[in-house]
Amino acid sequence: MDMTKVPARSGSHNVEDLDTLRKGFDWEEIKKNFSWYKTGKVNAAYEAIDRHAEDPAKKDQVALLYSAPDREESVTFEQLRKQSNKTANIFKKYGVQKGDRVFLFMPRSPEFYANFFGILKVGAIAGPLFEAFMEQAVRDRLEDSEATMLITTPELLERVPVDDLPNLKQIVLVGADDVKDDGYINFNQEMEQASDQFEIEWVDLEDGMLIHYTSGSTGKPKGVYHVHNAMIQHYATGKWVIDFKDDDVYWCTADPGWVTGTSYGIFAPWLNGVTNVIRGGRFSPESWYETLDKHNVTIWYTAPTALRKFVSAGEELVKQYDLSSLRHIMSVGEPLNPEVITWGLRVLDLRIHDTWWMTETGAMLIVNLPSMEIRPGSMGRPIPGVDAAIVDNEGNELPPNQMGNLAIKKGWPSMMRTIWKNPGKFESYFINGWYVSGDSAYMDEDGYFWFQGRLDDVINTSGERVGPFEVESKLIEHKAVAEAGVIGKPDPERGEIIKAFITLNPDYETSDELLEDIRQFVKKGLSAHAAPREIEIKDSIPKTRSGKIMRRLLKSWELGLPTGDTSTLEE
Ligand code: WT7
Repeated sequence: MDMTKVPARSGSHNVEDLDTLRKGFDWEEIKKNFSWYKTGKVNAAYEAIDRHAEDPAKKDQVALLYSAPDREESVTFEQLRKQSNKTANIFKKYGVQKGDRVFLFMPRSPEFYANFFGILKVGAIAGPLFEAFMEQAVRDRLEDSEATMLITTPELLERVPVDDLPNLKQIVLVGADDVKDDGYINFNQEMEQASDQFEIEWVDLEDGMLIHYTSGSTGKPKGVYHVHNAMIQHYATGKWVIDFKDDDVYWCTADPGWVTGTSYGIFAPWLNGVTNVIRGGRFSPESWYETLDKHNVTIWYTAPTALRKFVSAGEELVKQYDLSSLRHIMSVGEPLNPEVITWGLRVLDLRIHDTWWMTETGAMLIVNLPSMEIRPGSMGRPIPGVDAAIVDNEGNELPPNQMGNLAIKKGWPSMMRTIWKNPGKFESYFINGWYVSGDSAYMDEDGYFWFQGRLDDVINTSGERVGPFEVESKLIEHKAVAEAGVIGKPDPERGEIIKAFITLNPDYETSDELLEDIRQFVKKGLSAHAAPREIEIKDSIPKTRSGKIMRRLLKSWELGLPTGDTSTLEE
């Protein structure tokens, strides 16, 4: 098999030729698919759920197919409309207003989605938090967003520093059995009483919908602010890239605490009116294959880190399942190894389509379509209505095959509108009219983009983005740690692992117990995925004269590479 190019798959696709669609493309045309184009009344919750519930042919179709080890449930569009009307009524009753930030800190469950749409229906801004976050991670996000309401569970409430959050006025507890009057709002009890009719708060396309926190090289996590207008691109990429047809059963494995889990775990499938599988519980190759088989999933959106685990799980395992419903697999979050694409073709007879985008971009930008030739190792080509280029540090376009900053011409529909309470940071992403991504890449003569690496110090471990500063800050809170520098170290399975270099305070001696204690400290403070897998003790941490940790130098040492310019190194 010639692995440098994988031909388009036969059959009919929503987009038969990308070049034709790109020519004269206008986002205005896409808008005509939404009700608000005629009614003038905007709310993404209406377009994703209520619009289908009002359609006699669609209202009883399963919207949400929930599958967890201890619970299976099907929720139709009509049921999801009513449930989210109820949650909206609860929020309204407790005073939530348009523009308020309402955060969700709970596992994936039908209740999560009913709450999510209820938040949008009252015109508030949803802030989903990854359920594995520990106290510091939760605190940073609730503090910065000044969230006034939090929806959580009795178990997760233990990680919420309720007394230190002056803006947080209300906490809704989902799954609390006894009805105690201890200042919390009992979700189950309120749902029994709430009306299932609600008059949606109509908003403007540019009104806030969602905040996702994400990490950069410096500072605390940043609140990436998205508006209702993003739905235009969620809808269009669902149609073009995911290639949704009416009877698809689709499964996106991402948690809604991350942007993939909202843009493509909520909006794209439901704006396109397809059945969306939501899986609870932990990952194992067996249980994931079982989900694909049992629900006859037709399109699957997942991440390289999971796909690599399937490859290592071996070919005997996959033969035990019937995956014949699958049309194609899609991938995002980190480089998709060519070997994984080969495995997909050989073992599953399926193409795996890479997609590139970021929390900040809100939706897919560089993609592989079913009708496109795949070039393994490349992320694909830009969607219609998006101009991507490789630019130098002044924002000048570079010719093909030259490495530089992967950049996007400002102005696609799902672009973040600001960084919450930090407009200066937002402006800093743009140079000469280009949004500069922080990734380095090159473009070949045919317009395919090839990822080369991150240009900043952001770490990508198993597809999850971790800021070194956050980990360093946590490390130095440990009583034994004086200084810390954190880098991503290449790893065959996880892409990168987190490696920390630390110096110890006087009176502390190196020991395995101490290192494990430090690791656990970060894990319990931030989250498991942010805890360093390797910790190395040093006599000093290299810093610039102005006191910045020289992570690049740490990385060069670790990888045995030339150290480059060290003229700013402190004595
Ligand atoms: C960073 C964004 C929004 C998707 C989930 C991640 C890396 C993303 C790819 C890809 C190589 C990729 C980039 C990007 N990344 N997709 N197809 N190939 N790298 O969102 O957490 O905001 O991270 O993930 O480095 O900048 P995120």
